[in-house]
Amino acid sequence: MESRTVVESLSITIQPATINDLEKLYQIERECFTMEAFSKEHIAYLLQNPNAISLVAQINSEIAGFIIGLIHRQDKMITGRVYTIDVASKHRRKGVGIKLLDELERIFVKRGVKICYLEVRVDNVAALELYRKRGYVEVEKLKKYYRRIHGVRLKKKLGS
Ligand SMILES: CC(C)(COP(=O)(O)OP(=O)(O)OC[C@H]1O[C@@H](n2cnc3c(N)ncnc32)[C@H](O)[C@@H]1OP(=O)(O)O)[C@@H](O)C(=O)NCCC(=O)NCCS
Repeated sequence: MESRTVVESLSITIQPATINDLEKLYQIERECFTMEAFSKEHIAYLLQNPNAISLVAQINSEIAGFIIGLIHRQDKMITGRVYTIDVASKHRRKGVGIKLLDELERIFVKRGVKICYLEVRVDNVAALELYRKRGYVEVEKLKKYYRRIHGVRLKKKLGS
């Protein structure tokens, strides 16, 4: 009998993060950023901030990554900012980051966000490539934004 290869697609689910996820989010944050990691208190503050959108990605009920976006309202203009995006090392290159970003942008659009900004280190190839893939373009160079490392500010128009 001919053998058949069964290809299972990876199931990544995205849902709102809650304060109960704090320990795991902090663990992933430390894994992603070491020196520059947000404190646990700061993550807890963000999880409870009404202007923040915090989402977790799960694979087989395990938190594989998270994203936090912020909404700013000024002079009737609503802008969004990708504040942080973190994927646990063992779950990278599986589409988790892009799925988190897509869902955050979808929620931003629903909340009236027209433009999304973010900042990234110039040497963060993975993040720069992810954002480029989703249509972000550089709008500003940020000299020594990350201590001695330069950054760039990227921008994307959302919606139609
Ligand atoms: C950046 C990060 C969130 C990407 O998450 P991820 O789940 O691995 O990304 P995805 O699997 O969704 O990748 C989507 C696309 O991004 C690009 N990409 C992701 N990682 C990459 C890498 N290491 N090198 C080059 N391109 C990369 C690719 O175009 C990829 O598509 P492909 O796999 O079909 O080629 C992850 O590397 C991370 O958590 N890094 C540490 C934290 C961090 O730097 N966050 C960003 C701060 S601005």
